[in-house]
Amino acid sequence: MKLLTLLLLLGVTSLTESEVVQSFKSKCPQFFFLGHLPSAKRVATPTVLRGRKYKQICQRWKNQYRFATLYDTKSRIPVYSAYTYNSSNQFPRDKYWKVEPQLDLPWNRENSNMASESEMNASLTSTFEHQALVKDYSGDCCGKITRGHLFPKSYAADKDQGDSTFTLTNIAPQTQECNNQWAEQVEEPMLSYIKTKCTLRESFPAYIVTGVVPGNTWLEIKRGNRAIKQGVNIPTHYWTAFTCANSTGKVSHAYIAQQSHCKDNRQTKFKKLEMTVAKLEEKLKDLYNQSFSVFRNTKI
Ligand SMILES: *[C@@H]1O[C@H](CO)[C@@H](O)[C@H](O)[C@H]1NC(C)=O
Ligand SMILES: *[C@@H]1O[C@H](CO)[C@@H](O)[C@H](O)[C@H]1NC(C)=O
Ligand SMILES: *[C@@H]1O[C@H](CO)[C@@H](O)[C@H](O)[C@H]1NC(C)=O
Ligand SMILES: *[C@@H]1O[C@H](CO)[C@@H](O)[C@H](O)[C@H]1NC(C)=O
Repeated sequence: MKLLTLLLLLGVTSLTESEVVQSFKSKCPQFFFLGHLPSAKRVATPTVLRGRKYKQICQRWKNQYRFATLYDTKSRIPVYSAYTYNSSNQFPRDKYWKVEPQLDLPWNRENSNMASESEMNASLTSTFEHQALVKDYSGDCCGKITRGHLFPKSYAADKDQGDSTFTLTNIAPQTQECNNQWAEQVEEPMLSYIKTKCTLRESFPAYIVTGVVPGNTWLEIKRGNRAIKQGVNIPTHYWTAFTCANSTGKVSHAYIAQQSHCKDNRQTKFKKLEMTVAKLEEKLKDLYNQSFSVFRNTKI
């Protein structure tokens, strides 16, 4: 009897051991500032926006946590992804886009990993309401909308972590031109900056957060026969910031770029700004309409 009770308890415990978590801090603190320390009490996540539509995801792939995402299930785009960097490598990209089963099947214990959408039962995923699917990005709105990564593959340490970035919960709509500009003007220079200015150690990596700000334009999507006009939100801004240690102290830097709108895709409106993290936080306060901190929020 006692054994049975124990087994039941263990079963219940593993039920909560899912990717969609109550708190980043309890399941995957390692992706957040100071979260690498053995007692992760002081871990500082970015502001966790309040409301039932926001879900905290510890992004799990091949039974390991790879990064973390705050996801907006109404806009069907992330708010931000948080990850660490200590080294990266080149490897081929994953062919398969993944989804987060637990956003739509919260009690499905089989799916504590993200799952390749093409390998899932299509009649099951066609009912998924709380996230974007591959086909949502293949409509003909504006022709040139592509899947913009928040955590980019080019920052991944190994093939498995790189593959894990190909999940739609790490993706927001971006015009192809803005996607290229973001890579050239932000992702690549920021990586060089990190490599030259940070003293990277296995035990003290660079902490990075990349986010988007939702706008008023949307990709229309379909679920079954139903068209949803406000399907996947097209963000107005992409932003990113890092913090790391050098031999004498701390180095931090931030970037934000306004995205061109779907409708006026013809003209590139890409404009990148570089600034301190404090300055970015001021901007994000205006854009999110609430105070927002990237590395200092310890109240989670
Ligand atoms: C796919 O899912 C549908 C609806 O949940 C179910 O009826 C069907 O049996 C499933 N098909 C397979 C091959 O699992
Ligand atoms: C540093 O990179 C290695 C792979 O090169 C990885 O195994 C390790 O988890 C990384 N550490 C941190 C703190 O990100
Ligand atoms: C460490 O970073 C700080 C802030 O950017 C800078 O002032 C200082 O010179 C850096 N130290 C070294 C040894 O590069
Ligand atoms: C912030 O407020 C402005 C003005 O009311 C609104 O247009 C915008 O959508 C809001 N932004 C967010 C992210 O809620």
